Amino acid sequence: MQTLCAPNDTLDLRLETMENSPLQVLTVPTAPYPDQRPSISGLRKKVYVFQSKRKYLHNFIQSIFSSIDLRDRQGSTMVVGGDGRFFNRAAIEVIVQMAAANGVGRLIIGHHGIMSTPAVSCVIRKYKAIGGFILTASHNPGGPGGDFGIKFNIANGGPANEAITDKIFQISRTIEEFAICPGLHVDLKTLGKQTFDLENKFKPFTVEIVDSVESYANLLRNIFDFAALKEFLSGENHIRIRLDAMHGVVGPYVKRILCEELGCPANSAINCVPMEDFGGQHPDPNLMYATDLVDSMKDGHYDFGAAFDADGDRNMILGKHGFFVTPSDSLAVIADNIFCIPYFQHTGVRGFARSMPTSAALDRVAKATKIELYETPAGWKFFGNLMDAGMLSLCGEESFGTGGDHIREKDALWAVLAWLSILATRKQSVEDIVKDHWLKYGRNYFTRYDYENVDIDAACDMMEDLEIMISDKSFVKQRFAVEDKIYQVEKSDSFEYTDPVDSTISRNQGLRIIFSDGSRIIYRLSGTSSDGATVRIYIDSYEKDVIFEDTQVMLAPLATIALKISQLHHRTGRSGPSVIT
Ligand code: G1P
Ligand code: ZN
Repeated sequence: MQTLCAPNDTLDLRLETMENSPLQVLTVPTAPYPDQRPSISGLRKKVYVFQSKRKYLHNFIQSIFSSIDLRDRQGSTMVVGGDGRFFNRAAIEVIVQMAAANGVGRLIIGHHGIMSTPAVSCVIRKYKAIGGFILTASHNPGGPGGDFGIKFNIANGGPANEAITDKIFQISRTIEEFAICPGLHVDLKTLGKQTFDLENKFKPFTVEIVDSVESYANLLRNIFDFAALKEFLSGENHIRIRLDAMHGVVGPYVKRILCEELGCPANSAINCVPMEDFGGQHPDPNLMYATDLVDSMKDGHYDFGAAFDADGDRNMILGKHGFFVTPSDSLAVIADNIFCIPYFQHTGVRGFARSMPTSAALDRVAKATKIELYETPAGWKFFGNLMDAGMLSLCGEESFGTGGDHIREKDALWAVLAWLSILATRKQSVEDIVKDHWLKYGRNYFTRYDYENVDIDAACDMMEDLEIMISDKSFVKQRFAVEDKIYQVEKSDSFEYTDPVDSTISRNQGLRIIFSDGSRIIYRLSGTSSDGATVRIYIDSYEKDVIFEDTQVMLAPLATIALKISQLHHRTGRSGPSVIT
């Protein structure tokens, strides 16, 4: 069995290949695992599950390959990249060996196996690949005791839809064998092409190690005005920014694009070396976990701050002194200032979208600008269909995801450049821009309570009972009073979405209680938790006049009602949420 690391010269390569015997393709028997249903964001498990269960990874990867029609797979191009977390390289080795044995013609892999999620989306589209693998558990902790995950994205660069993930799951339940080239080893350190000859194969299998930072930077250069941003970030009166990559994958992108190209001083970027365990931290950009950023913003030295999650698709935006911009407000502000971004001046604005639990701040901008608004279930894949159909330009989720139709994933660095473009154009602070927005549109107060690692049965029972209660006709018109606040139920349901493009129906996407003043309480079970169940309660309430109050104070009555209706504390044995965002 031979490994061929190709030199640049094709002729040398052919000679070398001929001297070596072709790599063996093996078919290995296996037995199914029952728990490989991809969730909202791929298959996410504790690292030890992938390490200790024999062939667990192989089964899932084979299920993905088998879900693709052989005619599409044969000789195709696919992409592989991950956020650099522990088990990333081991998984890539297996994926490469199985891709070759499953007839894929060419794999495009990020340098050192690392690519941010938005960069994978960009690279899939650039190379016209039929899809790609993203090795990440997003913002979940990494390292041997942490989480690992595999996401499968399709040819549009976005997450696979439910029909595909269902098919993958069905295959994983009956899998009997997988195909692999165990002797094939790639060199992830060297940029360029490597070619391998396989037995019984006419064409060689090619691996291309690419500089994804360059491909991604090129995409952004065509969206934003880099000359204006450079002047804003490093000219005479430049603003001071602080970006926290939280030891995830975004560090090299921040360094190259913001520091080298746009001229930000070195102290603008922190925690930029990707680490397998993210320095032992929780790589989740919110006020609770992005503590380095939050601390460094307090004294007012920096005008703008942002943090990114491990795979670079989530962002948190802060202003001077740590002024926090909720992701729902961030989306609405970008929408209201969308023409500060040159890309949209060229494409126009085709539509806005938000996930159902995201606050309705965006709706007000859509209404005022007469731009179509779509309300989708949580998860980015729902936006992709609308974008492919030319119906959507800008979208986001309350879970710190924001993005445009330049790719089919949420894109944290894009969000930062969007904000910087707005600041550069409006010449106001982050806080002033957000406060002006509230003065213009009123304010949607929003909060989310997460109860993590709850007993699965207790969580499911609670949701079932809640659904029965709110589906009963008598629930509508019920009134709930807390102190002097009275809320009357206007509508309650289990959210269901019909895709406007292909009419696919997605049911059970969260329980909604909507009150007569437009306030909403939403209950959902997370699809991304790897330990027990995570119950999420979302609260959204609109105020036209009282706009400078503290969020938790404003939403306290609705939070009390949300807990009272669900009996969540009693049912789960908890006394409070694990995280509030
Ligand atoms: C979470 C977020 C959701 C997001 C998903 C993937 O899913 O709530 O908005 O699309 O991660 O990043 P959940 O754990 O709530 O199912
Ligand atoms: Zn992520």
